[in-house]
Amino acid sequence: MIIDVIAGARPNFMKVAALFAVAGDFPSVSLRLIHTGQHYDAAMSDVFLKELELPTPHAHLGVGSGTQAEQVSAILTRYTAQVCTDRPDACVVVGDVNSTLACAIVAAKEGILLAHVEAGLRSFDRSMPEEINRMVTDRLSNVAFVSEPSGIANLAREGMPLDAIHFVGNTMIDTLLRMKRKAEGLRQHEELGLSPRAYALFTAHRPGNVDDPAMLDCICRQLEWLASQIPVVFPVHPRTRRQLESGGLWERLRGQPGLKLLEPLGYLESLALMMEAALVVTDSGGMQEETSSLGVPCLTLRANTERPITVESGTSTLIGNDWELFRRRVHTILTGPRDTQECNIPLWDGLAGRRIVQTLGRQPVLDR
Ligand code: UD1
Repeated sequence: MIIDVIAGARPNFMKVAALFAVAGDFPSVSLRLIHTGQHYDAAMSDVFLKELELPTPHAHLGVGSGTQAEQVSAILTRYTAQVCTDRPDACVVVGDVNSTLACAIVAAKEGILLAHVEAGLRSFDRSMPEEINRMVTDRLSNVAFVSEPSGIANLAREGMPLDAIHFVGNTMIDTLLRMKRKAEGLRQHEELGLSPRAYALFTAHRPGNVDDPAMLDCICRQLEWLASQIPVVFPVHPRTRRQLESGGLWERLRGQPGLKLLEPLGYLESLALMMEAALVVTDSGGMQEETSSLGVPCLTLRANTERPITVESGTSTLIGNDWELFRRRVHTILTGPRDTQECNIPLWDGLAGRRIVQTLGRQPVLDR
């Protein structure tokens, strides 16, 4: 069975890596990496391919930047051309980025078996582009691989047949568990002159946070306050950097004592800094999950989450716009004892990729 595995944007690479890591154990299945090129910078793409030991892409669609409509339509056109000349038996899409949506539409229209990894997650907030991508992708999928129990309930409520839903665990956590030792060896905090558990890691890139000048200004003021409490490391996403520069906030942050602004980090560097941080402040869905697995406190700069397990059983607290809560939580984390309990989220055990490839190998190929 020939399976196209789609990756396009930064958070996709960690998820697909979990499938390629075990593919050799399933000789009846042949995985091919298709890179859409949604993220194309060395720091946003190439470093991940290398660190995560991903194969050279079978095809690179080279779509690059643009509006969401431009990105989705370019991927639709190019992936359609790709499958028309080099048809797979199945297509696996992961997560919720524009590449996920676009390739799901192509597979569904071309009658190719479509499987969605990280299916069923819902923030119930349609102002997020990712929520629309998740809803449409799930509706089109033949097979749904679910990472947490809320995904099963959401898909069942939306009418997905129960035998199409497979609760397999979390591929991002597979990769984290596989790479943890290697990341530890980097001692990345020392490179930056920081002591373990004596700094905060900060990231923000969601349009709802960084594209709105008033919100971005507010977040920057909280960031400055945080840097007055504990050293802060902030790897800046290209979208965020552009908004900070155009809003005149970049120079202000650069002058802030206690705050280190960095280029986007590679996977191992980022994981290494996360593991040793006293706390993480972020709007990234992936980091909510990774901190929950690592037992690192996470203050999430969002009012909702499509990953409720990270709040119920993990280490994430939703902050939304409640800056009083933010400061109280920072204070508690910095002054209280650290809870070092192991992660007990069901099936976040490093075996999700294995369950997925095994299940795919059993799927009947669709008639053309
Ligand atoms: C995308 C995903 C988001 C994910 C994030 C991780 C969608 C709808 N959003 O958002 O879910 O959390 O990736 O990074 O797919 N840029 C570069 N170099 C690159 C890539 C992007 O400079 O390699 C710049 C471009 O100017 C681009 C901007 O960053 O316009 C935003 O990139 P884009 O892919 O549109 O969305 P992200 O904000 O990265």
